[in-house]
Amino acid sequence: MKSLGDILKLSTQYLKEKNDPRARAHAENLMSYVLKLPRLDLYLQFDRPLEEDELSIYRALLKRKAQGEPLEYIMGELAFYDCTLSVTPAVLIPRPETEILLDKVCERLRSKNVVGLQAWDLCCGSGCLGLGLKKAFPELSVTLSDLSTDALQVAQKNCMRNDLQVDFLHGDLLAPFQGRTADLVLCNPPYISQKDFNELDPSVRLFEPKMALVGGESGNLFYKRLAFELPPFLNPGALVCLEIGCSQGEVVSSLFSASHWKAKSLEKDWAGHDRFFFLEFE
Ligand SMILES: C[S@@+](CC[C@H](N)C(=O)[O-])C[C@H]1O[C@@H](n2cnc3c(N)ncnc32)[C@H](O)[C@@H]1O
Repeated sequence: MKSLGDILKLSTQYLKEKNDPRARAHAENLMSYVLKLPRLDLYLQFDRPLEEDELSIYRALLKRKAQGEPLEYIMGELAFYDCTLSVTPAVLIPRPETEILLDKVCERLRSKNVVGLQAWDLCCGSGCLGLGLKKAFPELSVTLSDLSTDALQVAQKNCMRNDLQVDFLHGDLLAPFQGRTADLVLCNPPYISQKDFNELDPSVRLFEPKMALVGGESGNLFYKRLAFELPPFLNPGALVCLEIGCSQGEVVSSLFSASHWKAKSLEKDWAGHDRFFFLEFE
């Protein structure tokens, strides 16, 4: 019977042969998932023999990883801003940059009285932004929306999983919000151009939903639409918080050039790329 240490060595080699640049980390992540052990504890149990059933589950997951499937889909969940979120191939895997966006939003809200304010998470996917926001500010009224019914189901499951109460709406961007107005709008829309989509890493292009990635031919479609469509849906002083692609700062800023947009702020992620755009409605 092979030990945990032997299996990790062999599986790392196997993933390397499949061109996985993070072979060792992925082999360990999957092992800690199968054995329900923190990754560091694997090092304390290197000599432990693996049971046949543990090994067969591990083999099946390793095979999926070797085919390029993202770890988050294989494990089916991830941690995001104080929430544990289920993820399926119906939703984009929430990115660390989106966690930064939420952190920046929370920072801006901390000095405000948010009781009863209406917050919307448009294009909610897994629900990471809206649910993380509700967890941080339970007194906000939060509504999440998406065009994908499959994504909404995942977001609803995540809402229950984290014991939160928010509303869900289904439809195209602002269409389901007719007759309602918001004080805070968060949106991480699809923002990749068709050309960039074709060049994405296969682990993204082949596994994550295309409708969560591509924002029209240029990638700017949703920002154009929001700049034009949002005003009648906003209360005076409403805050709009967007995630953008790293090369979209200038164009997104110019799309929101009308005089009713105030306090525009283009902000960077940890890699120093333009990534967030904040603005207020007059
Ligand atoms: C980039 S993902 C963001 C998901 C999540 N907010 C996050 O940050 O991880 C974009 C989401 O927009 C949704 N979407 C695409 N087209 C849409 C549309 N016309 N109206 C509303 N949602 C749309 C997709 O289904 C996807 O869930």
